[in-house]
Amino acid sequence: MKKIAVTTAGGDAPGMNACLRAVVRSAIYYGLEVVGFEEGYGGLIEEKKKRMDLRSVSGIISWGGTILRTKRCPEMKTRKGIEKAARVLKRNRIDGLITIGGDGSFRGGIELYRASRIPVVAIPASIDNDIAGTEDTIGFDTAVNTALDSIQKIRDTAFSHERIFIIEVMGRERGFIALAVGLACGAEIILVPEIRYNLSKISRELEKGKKTGKKSSIIVMAEGAGAAYAIAHHIRDVTGYEVRVSVVGYIQRGGSPTARSVNLANLFGHQAVKTLLRTKSAKMVGWEKGEVVVQPLDYVTRQRKEIDRNLYRLAHILAI
Ligand code: F6P
Repeated sequence: MKKIAVTTAGGDAPGMNACLRAVVRSAIYYGLEVVGFEEGYGGLIEEKKKRMDLRSVSGIISWGGTILRTKRCPEMKTRKGIEKAARVLKRNRIDGLITIGGDGSFRGGIELYRASRIPVVAIPASIDNDIAGTEDTIGFDTAVNTALDSIQKIRDTAFSHERIFIIEVMGRERGFIALAVGLACGAEIILVPEIRYNLSKISRELEKGKKTGKKSSIIVMAEGAGAAYAIAHHIRDVTGYEVRVSVVGYIQRGGSPTARSVNLANLFGHQAVKTLLRTKSAKMVGWEKGEVVVQPLDYVTRQRKEIDRNLYRLAHILAI
């Protein structure tokens, strides 16, 4: 192995830059040449590349976003797109690819491996933390803390006005952010796409809270768990309370990564290079039971990661 490529694909996540730095510096340390493909798989297909040397990643460890930029790439879901990308890798004499991104990017990575037989190592970086085979992803901790910071501010005004707030956090399909944030902010109610809920029951719980002296209540919901404004109207109509909605939105995707996100990026980036030096297939690095693990990428992308229902129950018990 002489030359490897690296790309950041799918939605960006804080810590992607730290991970790029770890990949580039580790690869050079082991005597490899590194090419960065810009704009994810889209840039790979269009051969938008740049040589990554030691200084190309200087100063970026604490930057949000990704200096290689990223895009969602529908073309990588087509045979034509995959073959084009495989041809680019071969033409550039790439011996191995590291792809930093989420599950969609990983499915592209497997197809690319199948079409080119060039080894691929995937690094999980997604604020959603919805990737099987790893308990944590680069960017998740940062997004959770960003949302938490917003909610703590909202708590102040919720208390002063004795209001109920519905706070929508990211997670179009999964509720990992909502659950972590909800537990951490002491939310009275957490709504996630994975668990059915009953609005009449929720209204009754809010009324009970009020009767037992609560001055405000916080409902944290994942964006995929329903329509925040419709839920607000329903609760207001049933309880008569003042209900407000606040959407945390894309600020969860940006900003400087937390120490947790950076250090995961450092560990994953270094392990990905070491794995690439050994493997002839497609792998994913992950974090399980307190250590970095390496698993087959096709296995991981066929699994579904489940939210921890014990945490969900705990949040409910602690918020009575
Ligand atoms: O990065 C994951 C995620 O933040 C989801 O939670 C969200 O729904 C989605 O990306 C939206 O991203 P985009 O607008 O880039 O498609």
